[in-house]
Amino acid sequence: MSAGAPARPREVAILGAGAMGSALATPFRDAGWGVRLWGTWLDDHLLAACRAGEPHPRTGVPLAPGTRLFTAADLDAALDGAELVVLAVASGGVEEVARRAAPAMAGTRAVLLTSKGFAPDAAGRIRLLPEAVRAAAAERGVTPPPVIAVGGPCKANEVAAGRPTAAVFAAADRALAAEVAKSVATPGYRAESSADEVGVEVCAPMKNVYAIALGVADGRSERDGTPWHDLKAAVFAKAVGELVLLTELVGGRADTAVGLAGVGDLEVTGLSGRNKVYGTRIGRGETARAALAAMQGAEQTVEGVPAAALAARLVDQRAPDAWPRLPLLRAVRAILADEHDPVELLVEAALPQH
Ligand SMILES: NC(=O)c1ccc[n+]([C@@H]2O[C@H](COP(=O)([O-])OP(=O)(O)OC[C@H]3O[C@@H](n4cnc5c(N)ncnc54)[C@H](O)[C@@H]3O)[C@@H](O)[C@H]2O)c1
Repeated sequence: MSAGAPARPREVAILGAGAMGSALATPFRDAGWGVRLWGTWLDDHLLAACRAGEPHPRTGVPLAPGTRLFTAADLDAALDGAELVVLAVASGGVEEVARRAAPAMAGTRAVLLTSKGFAPDAAGRIRLLPEAVRAAAAERGVTPPPVIAVGGPCKANEVAAGRPTAAVFAAADRALAAEVAKSVATPGYRAESSADEVGVEVCAPMKNVYAIALGVADGRSERDGTPWHDLKAAVFAKAVGELVLLTELVGGRADTAVGLAGVGDLEVTGLSGRNKVYGTRIGRGETARAALAAMQGAEQTVEGVPAAALAARLVDQRAPDAWPRLPLLRAVRAILADEHDPVELLVEAALPQH
């Protein structure tokens, strides 16, 4: 290249201008990428705040300088010429956004999936999200690029602020995951690579489910003004055991569940975040139904709630014999149904049985 002709930056299109989508603009920009941030039809107010130079309403952190914004109508323009795509919408929107983006996405190298959830197909079979993305693309008659599952203890506000964050990028093609991880590495944001897409995609929604239980113990501490940390720790240990079991049942690896994507993400989600906050409200004494209504009213999606129901269907469909070894999942289901005192349910699930 001749002197004075700067190389054109590699381009990434981030789909979803919520907390996580906007946050990932920081490491990509810091690593030298050109970033297009596309807002869905639900994100106009978020883009407006960013355009006005205000902190992003969901993270409290200003968008990384140089990020270009695209509104819902400009999806093809956002994707045109992009090398990578990041799908960062809530799990309930993944299929619709993947369907809309599929033709323009087909020419890209990889789609990084940060969403956490399960996706039932038309027949009710529970799928992991990468399978749903591939099916959505197939509906449009295109083959999608390889999916890279993104997991690990990553809070959007900290990623946005450039604080140290360890992620996992998992793909069937591990070399691709490693190459992409390297291309977005910054002093603050670094991802390890893995071939265990399944394990990352099981742990991601399940830690939201179990974080509700951790929150219940915190809520009880708040209500009493005295710690219930022993119970919280017992719940944590039980959650880790069930993450390992569920991961292996679906075909993933135990070391994923005890690594960044499982234990790491469970820890950070149990410290803060919407699922933990929801559980805390229940532990303080609200019914699960009332707490959910209050959070939805404040635009706070609690992904662990649908994930708990879908996880139960996944177990029913793939390994019904495993139910006796999943007492905490059963307890969370009962808590969400307001069936019994939530703390008593956790005690029965997490303490040794005699
Ligand atoms: N916030 C975090 O710290 C964090 C960390 C890791 C992963 N994630 C995951 O990233 C995903 C996005 O989370 P977030 O925190 O950015 O949430 P958010 O609520 O801030 O943003 C949600 C995004 O999804 C879109 N969306 C919501 N419902 C939709 C629907 N029905 N159809 C189409 N689009 C829809 C919104 O327009 C928005 O772009 C989630 O699956 C979440 O679990 C979040």
